[in-house]
Amino acid sequence: MKKTYKGMTIYVMDDYEQMSEKAASFIVAQVMIKPESVLGLATGSTPEGMYKSLVQRYKAHDVDFSETTTFNLDEYYPIEAANEQSYYSYMYRNFFDHVNVPKDRIHIPDGQAEDVEAFCASYDAAINEEIIDLQILGIGNNGHIGFNEPDIRFETGTHRVTLDEETIEANARFFQSVDEVPKEALSMGIRNIMHSKKIVLIANGKGKAQAVHEMIFGDVTPQLPASILQLHNDVTVILDQEAASEIINKL
Ligand code: PGA
Repeated sequence: MKKTYKGMTIYVMDDYEQMSEKAASFIVAQVMIKPESVLGLATGSTPEGMYKSLVQRYKAHDVDFSETTTFNLDEYYPIEAANEQSYYSYMYRNFFDHVNVPKDRIHIPDGQAEDVEAFCASYDAAINEEIIDLQILGIGNNGHIGFNEPDIRFETGTHRVTLDEETIEANARFFQSVDEVPKEALSMGIRNIMHSKKIVLIANGKGKAQAVHEMIFGDVTPQLPASILQLHNDVTVILDQEAASEIINKL
């Protein structure tokens, strides 16, 4: 099912596999139209299927990333790149080790940056110079995008963030225990995300249904950071049935 609401294009797919294939298709189309595309990439469990599909399509010669540049949304802080829970490790394990994005065009926030302010400024400068053509987003149970957590104001540029208890608990499943989840992160800000030409947000599972509902039907508020997407002019939301369960009868 495809609907348009408040300018957002919303796809409700049958299941996680279809959601993943659809999201991968947006990337393939983007890179086909513009091989030198700048992609904004996300981590977490949601996009794993999308990366799997992209790797398959790359191996089938359906897509070529040799001219592509990438910027990842976020990274824990502090964390060593070699830690298998770092988003650096995630990206290589799920995607970069299997495709031909040139290594010198891959940008991931540095979880070991000594001078965090200088690092954030340089990440912002690099993004501003390139302009992201297509930004992939997940959404947190609390409505975060990247690691822009609910707050009293929108953070604009790349910044250091204290993770919400809800986020730490949600991400504990990837670690041995909740105590091992880093308490902070580096994240692109809302301006970086909103500056992207096109945004594709993906979500699956019941746990995301309420945040998806508020993102689309709620007020635009930093308390639900994803709600800012209502103000972007090219947003596509791709959901499975469960993530769409709170909105399906309202579209
Ligand atoms: P998840 O995280 O894909 O692991 O659910 C999404 C997010 O927090 O943005």
